[in-house]
Amino acid sequence: MSEPVIRLTGLTRSFEQGGETIEVLRGVDLALAPGEIVALLGPSGSGKSTLLQAVGLLEGGFGGKIEIAGANASGLNADDRTTVRREAIGFVYQFHHLLPDFSALENVVLPQLLLGKSRDEAEAHAAELLGALGLSERLTHRPSQLSGGEQQRVAVARALANKPVLVLADEPTGNLD
Ligand SMILES: Nc1ncnc2c1ncn2[C@@H]1O[C@H](COP(=O)(O)OP(=O)(O)OP(=O)(O)O)[C@@H](O)[C@H]1O
Ligand SMILES: [Mg+2]
Repeated sequence: MSEPVIRLTGLTRSFEQGGETIEVLRGVDLALAPGEIVALLGPSGSGKSTLLQAVGLLEGGFGGKIEIAGANASGLNADDRTTVRREAIGFVYQFHHLLPDFSALENVVLPQLLLGKSRDEAEAHAAELLGALGLSERLTHRPSQLSGGEQQRVAVARALANKPVLVLADEPTGNLD
């Protein structure tokens, strides 16, 4: 079998809140192969977003081990986490987190510029992705000028923009048909 895209070993995450420790993730073991599509189900508050945020390297406060495409991602500092995230991971947030002052097109262009693509190439690819998601007529709209589902589709296009090995999507279809 090929190397897993994600391997989690004994992943833990807890939060200190008002003198109490809330243990949200208590030793998660998981391995996902390339091409595998997995849905994580659980009641509200069970820790789905917390798990995705840890695996997406959005924060470092977890215990146990996270490997992304064979590389150990545990114990990285914030800069190194950002690099891995930018190159390997597409993240669709539960609440879209689009940049409010930029158009739909620009929101999908920016992550590509950060990896050194030319603006022309990045714009062509962004327009293609947004077109595939039915947003060709909305490229110049800012997030506040888009419906909830349109914003969500822009967030999906942005997550795919750099052809990541891993896409993490936190309730990405909550506002879609
Ligand atoms: N920064 C934080 N500080 C304290 N507690 C937190 C923090 N973040 C999350 N929690 C708690 O961890 C638990 C899991 O939260 P999480 O957002 O992962 O749930 P979820 O499964 O994604 O829920 P939902 O389906 O409602 O999105 C919740 O009870 C929440 O209150
Ligand atoms: Mg959640």
